[in-house]
Amino acid sequence: MSKNRNILVTGGAGFIGSHVVRRLVNNYPSYNIINFDKLTYAGNLENLSDLESRSNYAFYHGDICDAHQVKEALRKYEITDVIHLAAESHVDRSISGPMEFVQTNVLGTVNLMNECRAFWDDLKGHIFYHVSTDEVYGSLGDEGLFEETTAYDPRSPYSASKASSDHFVRAYHHTYGLEIRISNCSNNYGSHQFPEKLIPLMIHNAVNGKELPIYGDGKNIRDWLWVEDHASAIDTIFHQGENGETYNVGGLNEWTNVDLVHELCSIIDDRLGKEAGSTAKNIVFIKDRAGHDRRYAIDATKLEQKLNWKPSITFEEGLASTIDWYLENQEWVNNVVSGDYQEYYKEHYK
Ligand code: NAD
Ligand code: TYD
Repeated sequence: MSKNRNILVTGGAGFIGSHVVRRLVNNYPSYNIINFDKLTYAGNLENLSDLESRSNYAFYHGDICDAHQVKEALRKYEITDVIHLAAESHVDRSISGPMEFVQTNVLGTVNLMNECRAFWDDLKGHIFYHVSTDEVYGSLGDEGLFEETTAYDPRSPYSASKASSDHFVRAYHHTYGLEIRISNCSNNYGSHQFPEKLIPLMIHNAVNGKELPIYGDGKNIRDWLWVEDHASAIDTIFHQGENGETYNVGGLNEWTNVDLVHELCSIIDDRLGKEAGSTAKNIVFIKDRAGHDRRYAIDATKLEQKLNWKPSITFEEGLASTIDWYLENQEWVNNVVSGDYQEYYKEHYK
């Protein structure tokens, strides 16, 4: 696909969005990449400060729920395609405040598609790529993997809002002919992740000698994928995926939370020159998350076989490089954990 594209990446200042924006700006100099972001607590332009002077990158400060702002951005930058990542993304926050999730994830997605339909007279050739999660499939038992055909069974307000947005995107494809791609990815980790999620929260607490809070018995399983590998999957699906298709993204890296935190503690002991086992002494088991999904695991065969995608690194390599990034970027961490984060942490872990 060599044509010039002006791509609106929503949520480009967030964790995954910033990796996607950087990859597109660097790999496709003929494209213009417009980062459309509301800059909620999770959005941070510092994540992309290295791109500020690039001629094929621009930032638009906007809310996907605001029809006027979306319309203006589509017109101003003559947007040809959308990669939609903007969302409220944290399960624990969705439990304490579900309305924000309905607002952004459901209504925001529908508003965005309405404005795209109105702006693109002919929908043909314009891609609306919706980035979603494996959590829409619910919770697995000991066996089995989520496939693209697995029935939706969302169980948290977050996953219910993402499932709803997936349904709306498919409905717009079938009803109006919007050319869509959807991907459902497993848990991501890597640099620039807000320290409310498991891995950066544990690194931050471990470095600061704070307790390492594991929910319930710690035997819940997540399937981890390095964020750069998710960005490469999005790039692949955007360029080679088929209209109307869904692709599962994951790396077959299942870890119980407790094993993962022990692995993380031993890397931190090593990096900080501490006695083996000393960081893990701060692990505490706390009250379980309400409705805590037991196991997620992705079958990414379709993406691997049809589009030749595969993850580039192992979990051990990715985790070590992620820990190194947080250790080397304490200023970034200190900036994002000031203010609101302190309130959130006190309230959630009281
Ligand atoms: P994040 O919370 O780090 O970032 C979300 C971004 O969206 C932020 O920059 C925020 O400012 C922006 N945003 C929020 N509401 C907005 C609005 N109304 N208008 C414009 N911008 C808004 O999230 P993330 O972890 O980077 O996830 C990105 C996407 O990928 C989400 O759609 C999420 O559901 C999906 N996803 C995440 C994971 C994961 O492990 N983090 C896994 C699979 C899928
Ligand atoms: P999280 O990073 O919030 O991702 P998700 O809920 O979307 O999978 O949590 C990953 C796992 O870690 C999940 O099983 C909940 C657990 N967890 C803890 O045990 N302690 C914590 O402080 C956090 C944030 C998560």
